[in-house]
Amino acid sequence: MTALTLSTAAASGLRADAIVVGVAKGAKGPLVALGAEAVDKAYDSKLANVLETLGASGAEGEVTKLPAPSGFKAPLVVAVGLGAEPEKDGSFGAEALRRAAGAAARALSGSKKAAFALPVEDAAAVGAIAEGALLGAYSFDTYKQNSQDAKAKNGKAPLAEVALLGAKPRDNAHKAAAARAIAVTEELNRARDLINTPPNDLNPESFAAIASAAGKDHGIKVQVLDEKALAKGGYGGILGVGAGSAAAPRLVKLSYTSAKAKKHLAFVGKGITYDSGGISLKPAGHNETMKCDMSGAAAVFAAVVAAARLGLEVNITGWLALAENMPSGSATRPGDVLRMYSGKTVEVLNTDAEGRLVLADALAKASEDKPDAIVDVATLTGAMMLALGNRTFGIMANDDAFRSAVHEAAEEVGEAAWPMPLPDHLRKGMDSPTADIANMGERYGGGLVAGLFLKEFVGEGITWAHLDIAGPAFNEGGAFGYTPKGGTGTAVRTLVRLAELAASGDLG
Ligand code: BES
Ligand code: MN
Ligand code: ZN
Repeated sequence: MTALTLSTAAASGLRADAIVVGVAKGAKGPLVALGAEAVDKAYDSKLANVLETLGASGAEGEVTKLPAPSGFKAPLVVAVGLGAEPEKDGSFGAEALRRAAGAAARALSGSKKAAFALPVEDAAAVGAIAEGALLGAYSFDTYKQNSQDAKAKNGKAPLAEVALLGAKPRDNAHKAAAARAIAVTEELNRARDLINTPPNDLNPESFAAIASAAGKDHGIKVQVLDEKALAKGGYGGILGVGAGSAAAPRLVKLSYTSAKAKKHLAFVGKGITYDSGGISLKPAGHNETMKCDMSGAAAVFAAVVAAARLGLEVNITGWLALAENMPSGSATRPGDVLRMYSGKTVEVLNTDAEGRLVLADALAKASEDKPDAIVDVATLTGAMMLALGNRTFGIMANDDAFRSAVHEAAEEVGEAAWPMPLPDHLRKGMDSPTADIANMGERYGGGLVAGLFLKEFVGEGITWAHLDIAGPAFNEGGAFGYTPKGGTGTAVRTLVRLAELAASGDLG
C-alpha cells in the first residue's frame, strides 16, 4: 500500500522524485493552481507560460512533466490538469481534486515518493486529494512474474509514498480526513484485488475465508453458511445457482456493531465469483470479464470493514451471496423451479439471470433482522449498461426519498449514479404458469425488471434500494483519473457515506 503523510515542508527542500502541481484551464490558457506558489516563484513566476509553451492547457487529466527549477531537491515537476478554473472566489470541487491526484499518481508509477502541492483549502480537500492519490496509485500485479523490485525498475510498481504539502499534520480535521481516506481506500483497493483475482483462485469458499480473516482483524463477527447449512435453511436460490459448480456456494454474514448505534443498515452484495451463464451459457465474447460478477459482494465487504475501521456509530450487517454459475450435469436447468428462502417459488427460465436468485435469498434473510434500510449492490444486468453506459450505476428503490438520499450520497463521494424507476406494469412479464414468479420478464427495461424481481423478496415495510453497478464495476477501457483498468471498487464509497449519514442521524 502507498504510504501517505501530511507535510508542512517547503517544496524546494523536499527529498522526493517529483513535485505535483495543479493547472487549471483558464479562458486565456493554463493557470497555476493554489498550492504551487513556491514552485511557480522558482520558475520566475512564469510556470504558466512554461506550461503553455509545452502545450499544456489545464484540461482534466492532462499530465505534463518538466524539469524542476534549480534549487529544488526533487528533480521533476508534474503538472496535472484540474479542468475548468472555479468560478470567482470558488474552489475546486472534491471530485476535480480526486481525479487530478489520481492521474498524477498513475503518471508517477515506478517512483518512490512524490510531494503533492495541490490546492488544499480545507479538510475536505485533504481527504479528496488523499483519496485520489491512494486510489490512483493502485496496480494489480499478483499474477505478473518478477519481484516487486523488478517491477520498480520497469517503472510498473505503484507510487510508494505520497506527501501532501499544505495539509497540516497537527490539524485535527486534516488528520481525520487523511485517516478516513486511508481506511476507505485501503479497503476499496482490497475490493479491487478481489474483483481482479481470477476465478480459479477466488471461489465462494476462498472469498468466505478471506472475509472471515478480515472480520477477525477488525472486530467484525463473521458467520458463514456452507452448502449443508444452506440446504438446511432452505436457501433454494443460492443453492440453485451454485448447483452446477464444483465449488459450493456460501452465504456470509458480517456483523459490525457499535455500542452507540442508533441505526441499523444491511448491505447485500451479489457475489457470483464467475458467471458463465450456466446452462443458458453466455456466448464467447461475453464471459471473459465475468470474474467481475462478485463486485457487489466485494463492495459490501469493503464498506463493512471500512466502517469498522472508522468506528462509525451505526450497526451494519453485510451479506455476501456467493456462488459460481456453471453448466454441468448437476446444474439448474431452464425450466426448473426453485423454492426460495422466503418460501416463494421461482421458475428459472434463463440460468444467466442468476444474480437475482442469490440476492432474493439474501434479501429475504437480511429482512428478518428488520434493519432501518437495506441496500443491495449487484452487477445485475447488461440492460443497465445499455441504459446508463459504463461509468454510471442505476439506483432503484421502494421509497422515493431513500432513493434520493442514496443518489445524494453517491454524488457527494464522486460516484456517478442515476435514479431509475420500478414500473409496476413490468411485473406481469414475470408471471409464470408453474411457479409464483419467473426469473425473467420483458426484454425492454431489463434492469428494471430485475429490480422488480428483487423487490418481491424484501421484507414487508422495509426501506430498500438496489444499485445495479454492471456498467462501472469493471473498467475494460484505459485508466482515467483515479480509476484503473479492471475492477474499480464502485459503490464502496457510496456505502461508506450512507453508513456515516446513518451514524450521524442524517439518513432518513
Ligand atoms: N452478470 C450478468 C450481468 C452483467 C453483464 C454484468 C455484463 C456485467 C457486465 C448477469 O448475471 C446477466 O447475465 N444478466 C442477464 C439477464 C438476462 C438473462 C435476463 C443480462 O443482462 O443479459
Ligand atoms: Mn448472468
Ligand atoms: Zn451475473
